Amino acid sequence: MNILLLGSGGREHALALKMSQSTLCGQLFIAPGNAGTAQCGQNVNMGVSDFDKIKAFCLDNAIDLVVPGSEEALVNGIYDFFKKDAALQHIPVMGPSQEGAQLEGSKAYAKLFMERHGIPTAAYREFNVHSYDEGVAYLQQHSLPIVLKADGLAAGKGVVIATTYEEAVEEFEQMIKSAKFGDASKVVVIEEFLAGIELSVFAITDGHTYQILPEAKDYKRIGEGDQGLNTGGMGAVSPVPFADQAFMEKVEEQIIRPTIAGLSAEGIIYNGFVFFGLINVGGEPFVIEYNCRMGDPETEVVMPRLKNDLLELFNAVIAGQLAEQTIYADERAAATVMLVSKGYPEAYNKNKVITGIPAPTRDQMVFHAGTRQEGNEVLTNGGRVLAVTSLAANLSMALAHSVQTAEQVNFEGKVYRRDIGYEFV
Ligand code: AMP
Ligand code: GLY
Repeated sequence: MNILLLGSGGREHALALKMSQSTLCGQLFIAPGNAGTAQCGQNVNMGVSDFDKIKAFCLDNAIDLVVPGSEEALVNGIYDFFKKDAALQHIPVMGPSQEGAQLEGSKAYAKLFMERHGIPTAAYREFNVHSYDEGVAYLQQHSLPIVLKADGLAAGKGVVIATTYEEAVEEFEQMIKSAKFGDASKVVVIEEFLAGIELSVFAITDGHTYQILPEAKDYKRIGEGDQGLNTGGMGAVSPVPFADQAFMEKVEEQIIRPTIAGLSAEGIIYNGFVFFGLINVGGEPFVIEYNCRMGDPETEVVMPRLKNDLLELFNAVIAGQLAEQTIYADERAAATVMLVSKGYPEAYNKNKVITGIPAPTRDQMVFHAGTRQEGNEVLTNGGRVLAVTSLAANLSMALAHSVQTAEQVNFEGKVYRRDIGYEFV
C-alpha cells in the first residue's frame, strides 16, 4: 500500500521507519518530512493542512492510506474532508473525525465527555466572557494551586498553574479579556490541581475496540531535575516502572474502556491513536488530557518497542478487526534523549551543520526532528533537532547508551538532558 504520512518531527521519523519496515509498505511519502524521514521514503513539500494539495497528491500517487502525525490536520478536519469527497472517500485516514479530534482540540469538550462517561479527571468548571465575574468568584474560593487551561489548541502553552489568587485572576483576565491565546482562550477551564506523577498511555482504536500500546513517560522541562521552561519534550522512557499490571488494569477499566465505549455509544467516528495523558495520584489514575495522535517524544520509545507490524494494525483498524490483534512489546527498556538547539524553547539559531550521527543498530537509532538535508549536509532546522533512542536490558543502560551517543553527535549549541528517567534508575 502507498502511504502519505503528514508531519516533520521525531514522531514522524519514528512512524516512517516503523511503516517502512512492513512488508505491506509500498511507496511511503512524508509531507513535509525532514532529513531523517527522507531515508525511509520520499519527502513531499506540502503543508499538513493544505487539504487541496493533499487531495491532488493522493490522487496523482495512488495513495491508499493517510497517516496524520500531529493533531493539526485532524483538528482541522482532514478525516471529514476525505469522507465527504467522492474522489477521496475510498482512502482511509488514520485518525479521528473532526468531532473525535475535539477530545484534544477543546479541553471543555474533553471534560464534558469524561463527565458523561464517569472517567476520573480533575474537578472543573468552564467560563467565558459572559461568565467572567462568576469565574473570578470561583477562583477566589478555589484551593491553591489552581490550574487554568485555555480551551483550544495553544501550541502546548495554554495551561497555567497559578500558586496565588492574584496570579490566577490575572491569568484568567488575560486569557478571557485580552485573548492571551487568541480564540483558544475564549473559553477557560479552571480545574483542581492533581499532585502525582504523569505518564502517557496509548491505544489504537477503530472507535469500538482497542489495543493498548506500550506506555511511556516524557520529560517536558528544559533542564535536568525537571527545572526551567516547558518544551515540546526533552526525552522519554518506556516502560514506566510504576505502570505495573495492577495500575494498568485500573487505567484500562476506569479510563480506556469507558473512553472507547463512550465514543462508540455517541457515534463519534474515531480511527487511530488515542493518547491518554494520565497522572498517578496515590495509585489511582486520572486523565489530565486526551490527544488524538501519538506523543512526541513518546513515539520515539514506543515504536521501537512495538514488535507488531504497524501497517497490519492500521489495516485491522480499517477492517474493524482490531479485536483479533495482539500487541507484542519488546521486553527491553527504551530511553530517548532529545538534542535541542541552544536557546530552545525560546529563540534559537538554525542551519548548524550536524555531524557524527551513527548508523542505526538493533539497539539504537537516531530519529530526526528539526533537521533538513542540503546537498550532502544535514542542518539543524528547529528547536528539537534529534532524538537518540536506545534499547537495553534496563533503563539505566538504555539511558547511558543514549547519552553516550548524544555526546558524539555534534552541532553548534547542542543541549540535552542526561537525567531522562531519573526517578526510575
Ligand atoms: P496539558 O496541556 O493539558 O497537557 O497540560 C500541561 C501540563 O500541565 C500537564 O502535562 C501537567 O503537567 C500539568 N497539568 C495539567 N492539568 C493539571 C492538573 N489538573 N493538575 C496538575 N497538573 C496539571
Ligand atoms: N509529549 C507530549 C505530547 O506529545 O503532547
